[in-house]
Amino acid sequence: MRVILMGPPGSGKGTQAKLLSQRFGVPHVSSGDLLRSAVRRKSPMGVQAKKYMDRGELVPDDIILGAVEERLRESDCARGFILDGYPRTLAQDGALSATLARMQTRIDSVVSLSVSREEVVKRLSGRRTCRECGASYHIIFDPPRNPGICNQCNGELFQRDDDQEDTVMARLEVYERNTAPLVAAYRQSGLLCEVDGVGGQEQVLERILSRVQQRE
Ligand code: AP5
Repeated sequence: MRVILMGPPGSGKGTQAKLLSQRFGVPHVSSGDLLRSAVRRKSPMGVQAKKYMDRGELVPDDIILGAVEERLRESDCARGFILDGYPRTLAQDGALSATLARMQTRIDSVVSLSVSREEVVKRLSGRRTCRECGASYHIIFDPPRNPGICNQCNGELFQRDDDQEDTVMARLEVYERNTAPLVAAYRQSGLLCEVDGVGGQEQVLERILSRVQQRE
């Protein structure tokens, strides 16, 4: 199972990618998580990427392309993967196609989650992320058992810097400018499954599964 999850910031890509990863037993590969891990380690890639991420802009291709290709070539991705947040531009799509051709494989489905701008702002202003394991919560829609503490590892929960409202607006604009044209290209190619991202997490998962399984 090789699936790409697309959608604006806060549409639920990460949440659904984790559920799909558990369901199909394949890894969740998130370009945002790869970058945040590099930022935490203060690696040269992380230092470069942070400047762009803090402004809500896309990290340049020379930073992100190699990192994703390297991850997809790891042995746990041989049986499949759920790709979250990548590709976001036509150029990244070209690089992904070349990587997959080298791996002699292809994408089965592209899922695009749709939610309104108002919903995005509500979701991202309430998102809290674990500093230790990266698990994601929402203070109202998916609260942790103990406020401020991760259910999985007892790590401290914090608000991502790029979830401040002005940065969220910048990320939405970047999505419309750079990624919406790629969604249109996937629509034309017949690979795209457009899914309403509003509703409970399990309800959205069922919608995705019914669309993805129709394509099998
Ligand atoms: P990234 O981390 O990928 O951010 P994003 O695409 O903006 O998406 P988010 O992680 O904010 O949201 P999501 O859709 O995953 O929603 P989630 O499931 O967490 O990228 C961050 C930055 O890295 C980018 O701005 C860019 O700088 C850089 N970057 C990353 N990839 C790149 C690339 N390919 N090229 C260049 N640069 C790149 O849910 C959000 C909240 O809503 C959570 O609190 C969750 O609990 C809640 N929620 C989820 N589902 C529901 C539901 N059904 N109902 C109610 N609440 C829900």
